[in-house]
Amino acid sequence: SKGKFRHFMQKEIYEQPQSLRNTLLGRLNGDDISLETVVGADENTFRDISSIQIVACGTSYHAGLVGRYWLEELTGISTNVEIASEYRYRKAVVRDNSLFITISQSGETADTLASLRLAKEQNYTKTLSICNVNGSSLVRESDFTLFTKAGAEIGVASTKAFTTQLLSLLILALIIGKQNGSISAEKNHEIVEAIRKLPSLAEEFLSCDKTISELSEQFSGKHHCLFLGRGVMYPIALEGALKLKEISYIHAEGYAAGELKHGPIALIDKRMPVVVVAPDNSLMDKLISNVEEVRARGAQLYIFKSGTTVIKSDGQTNMLSLPDCPEILQPILFTIPLQLLSYHCAVINGTDVDQPRNLAKSVTVE
Ligand code: M6R
Repeated sequence: SKGKFRHFMQKEIYEQPQSLRNTLLGRLNGDDISLETVVGADENTFRDISSIQIVACGTSYHAGLVGRYWLEELTGISTNVEIASEYRYRKAVVRDNSLFITISQSGETADTLASLRLAKEQNYTKTLSICNVNGSSLVRESDFTLFTKAGAEIGVASTKAFTTQLLSLLILALIIGKQNGSISAEKNHEIVEAIRKLPSLAEEFLSCDKTISELSEQFSGKHHCLFLGRGVMYPIALEGALKLKEISYIHAEGYAAGELKHGPIALIDKRMPVVVVAPDNSLMDKLISNVEEVRARGAQLYIFKSGTTVIKSDGQTNMLSLPDCPEILQPILFTIPLQLLSYHCAVINGTDVDQPRNLAKSVTVE
C-alpha cells in the first residue's frame, strides 16, 4: 500500500535510505566487503579481468554510465557501456578475459536478456548481473549476481532501483579493485567509510523536498528543460532528464556541460529552464564557466549545488543548497533532488505518476 504517500513513486523515493541500508546489510565487515555479496564469486573470480562491457536499458543504462567512472578509477580495467537494443545487433570485438555485466531492475528486459544470451556465445569469460529480482531470467542465466535490495518497485519510474544499482556498482568496483590489486588499503577504507554514511545522508538529502516542491511550480507551463552535468554527474543529468520527460511529459534533455557550445546552446533563451547538477568536485571550475555561457543567453538557471560551491547568482538564478557529502557519493545523492523535481512537476501537470502513458514497468518485448 501507499501508506501516507500519494503515489508509489513518492513512497519509493522516500524508501531510499532504507533500501540503501538493505543493500549494505550483512555485506560490510570492517573494511572488507564480504565475497558473498556477489553470488557465485570467490577470491579469484575477478583477478584477471582485462576489460568490462556493461549492457542495460533506460535508467539502468544510466547506472552503468556512472559505474564506468568508478570501475575504471578503482580497478584500472577498461570499461564500456552500451544500451542493450544496440549492443545486440552489433558485431562487438571481445578481448580475452572480458567480463560482461548486465544491469536491470526486473531481470526480464527483453533486449538486456538477448544481449546476455549473445554474450555467452561471444568470447566473454564471465557474465554478471546486477539485479533486483531473485529468480528472474537474467539472474538464472548469469554466472554471478549482485542483488540490489531495493525491494519491490511499483512506480514505472525507476527511483530506489537506480540508487541501489549505483551503490552496487560502487561495491563491485571495490571488490574487483581489491582482487586485482588496483585499490590501496587507504582508498578502500576511505570509500567504505563514505558508504557507511550513505543511508543517513540520503535522509538528509530528502529534506530538500519542500523547497523543490515550491521550485517545481515555476516549471508549470514549461515544455522544455535542459539538464547539465560534467564527469560522473553527466549521466546523472541524463537520468534527471529521463525522469522528467517520463512522468511529467515535459521534453527534457541531458547534456555534458562542455558539449553545449557544439549545438545545444542554440536552444537557450529566456524561457528555457536549465537545471545544473553542481556538487562541489574537481570539475567545478569547468562547470561554472559553462554555467556563465548559459547565463549570458538569459536561461532560467536552477543550480543544485553543495554547500561550498560558489556560483554567481542573479534574478534569473534559483540556487538549491544541498548537504555536503563525500565526492564519491555525489552521483547517488544528487539523484534524489532530481527525482523529487520530476515527481512534483508530474503532480502539477496532473499526469498519471505511477503509470505514465505508453509505458510498462517491465519491457519484455523487443
Ligand atoms: O527492469 P530494467 O531495469 O531492465 O528496466 C530498464 C528500463 O526499462 C527502465 O529503467 C526504464 O527506463 C524506467 N522506466 C526509467 O524510469
